[in-house]
Amino acid sequence: MEIYLDSANLEEIKEAYSWGVISGVTTNPSLISQENRDFKEIVLNICKIVEGFISVEVISLSTREMIKEAEELASWSSKIVVKVPIIPSALKAIKILNKQGIKTNATLIFSANQAILAARAGANFVSPFLGRIDDISWDGIPLIKDMASILGYYKLPTQVIAASIRHPLHVIEAAKAGANIATIPFRVLNQMIKHPLTEIGINKFLEDWKKSSHS
Ligand code: G3P
Repeated sequence: MEIYLDSANLEEIKEAYSWGVISGVTTNPSLISQENRDFKEIVLNICKIVEGFISVEVISLSTREMIKEAEELASWSSKIVVKVPIIPSALKAIKILNKQGIKTNATLIFSANQAILAARAGANFVSPFLGRIDDISWDGIPLIKDMASILGYYKLPTQVIAASIRHPLHVIEAAKAGANIATIPFRVLNQMIKHPLTEIGINKFLEDWKKSSHS
């Protein structure tokens, strides 16, 4: 499973990318708004930092306007994947953008049927939102399993991005369920590397080293 960073914060993106484990970035209008910077400037800077796909979302809801926005975004960099919410007008847009060679990520996916439709329209990625399913007392992991097995069974090239990841267990469960990618907030990435036994182990090694004749 590949790891993307779910962030529009340039400092976080620089730091996470320097770890050598990030192969893409996803953003959304809420993440961009938190940054209080020019939209295009943020996106172009992410493109400079990261080698890999960068998902950037449209805010229009009609096919025509979505396509217009998508064409503009795609003209900024070949790394840009255009994120569209999974509604009928977006399916039409995905189909047309696919023919134009513009990559798409169908977002706000909450059912396997939505993923099947996005895949059939030609979306390169589908983004099921795990955390938001938990928020309504449901379990998103079987959904990822269904999507991964259906898309795999029919050899559809659409990749599943487990999104709205809220904690480290989501990452493990998404990997076990067959997600191609997990897009992870920086906070969760930091939680993933931490283990108390690692810290205790490092301190013990250093203490022992100091006690010996090497110090
Ligand atoms: O990638 C989608 C993600 O940003 C949504 O996360 O935590 O707002 O549900 P959240």
